[in-house]
Amino acid sequence: MKKTSINLLILFAFLCIFGCNKKENQSKTQAQPMENIQVSDYGVTSKGDSIKKYTLTNKNGMKLEVINFGGIITSLTAPDKKGKYEDVVLGFTKPEDYFNGNPYYFGALIGRYGNRIANAKFTLDGKSYDIDKNDGPNSLHGGKEGFHTKFWNIEPLKDTKFPTLKLTYTSADGEEGYPGKLTTTVFYTLTDDNALEISYEAETDKPAVVNLTQHSYFNLSGNFSKTILDHELQINADKFLPVNETLIPTGEQKAVKGSPFDFTVSKPIGKDINADDDQLKKGKGYDHNWILNGSGLRSIAKVYHPESGRVMEVLTDEPGVQFYSGNFLDGKFDAKTGGKNELRTGLCLETQHFPDSPNQPNFPSTELKPGQKYHSKTIYKFSVKK
Ligand code: GLA
Repeated sequence: MKKTSINLLILFAFLCIFGCNKKENQSKTQAQPMENIQVSDYGVTSKGDSIKKYTLTNKNGMKLEVINFGGIITSLTAPDKKGKYEDVVLGFTKPEDYFNGNPYYFGALIGRYGNRIANAKFTLDGKSYDIDKNDGPNSLHGGKEGFHTKFWNIEPLKDTKFPTLKLTYTSADGEEGYPGKLTTTVFYTLTDDNALEISYEAETDKPAVVNLTQHSYFNLSGNFSKTILDHELQINADKFLPVNETLIPTGEQKAVKGSPFDFTVSKPIGKDINADDDQLKKGKGYDHNWILNGSGLRSIAKVYHPESGRVMEVLTDEPGVQFYSGNFLDGKFDAKTGGKNELRTGLCLETQHFPDSPNQPNFPSTELKPGQKYHSKTIYKFSVKK
């Protein structure tokens, strides 16, 4: 072989090896979406904790913003029918409003017990426990210093298919009156099909009760000074749980058929919300738990906003969902898009076990024993209908 041919061969081999390496590097980069998670300073709490904000971006440009105070989702964008991405979750304009109480639980992780426990007490294994009474006679959302007020450790995960945050918080035995040291892990993943996936895990060292959820308020119009009464909602539930004056389930499991609580066929939220109905009066609107049909991870609800074309589908493996129509929003805080967070400008679909389960033996159990692992998964998936 001539010298030039040998040189050419060497050059070809070199190019090939270099080219292959480059390809390998590229696929590694694709498998490491760390570039899709940005960290920035968010604010400082009155206790001096400096709070960080994590911004996750998927391949379509959809963004999820989460802070390590309360595991709070401060922003989540979704496309409208023209492809315009806008924020669809309510929130405060000032960081300190999240840190100093967050009266509406905007965007927060809720624990240890999402929803109400009657008279702020329950009995477990023959022992009675008094928990924080922060909602009239009852305990709501884990007590005044529930998980929504805690500093969560956040780790952006490497080598995951989609950008994922791992949040952990260890709640001491006796915190807010609850038994058992509870180690909680929550994963937030933003997938390329525009879904926010939330997975919850927990373990305890003593018998405990657990009911974790997420308290984001959605307004698919992208304008937080508008009400959600024009949003169309469908819930796959034939029954719901009527409540007493303090919003504790009476224990009855009532058919929705023929009542304002029937969302088996999609209808505007505003259609029946002001009907002359005892349960709507007690809730000041919808603030009830629907008993979801089926079991396992399944589609349980759909919200559609006709004007923007935005659709949000909710999937969960939980037995219930609290549909709350923002009846306690009272215009005291500025909305992120201007105006105020007024009555019914946001809706919550809080996937969960039933309220007051520790006191209601006929409800699915919320007990967690040492050695068991609590698991729960919920997906909020966004799309458009033209
Ligand atoms: C839950 C409750 C409501 C209300 C909100 C927070 O969804 O069911 O009654 O307390 O939280 O304002």
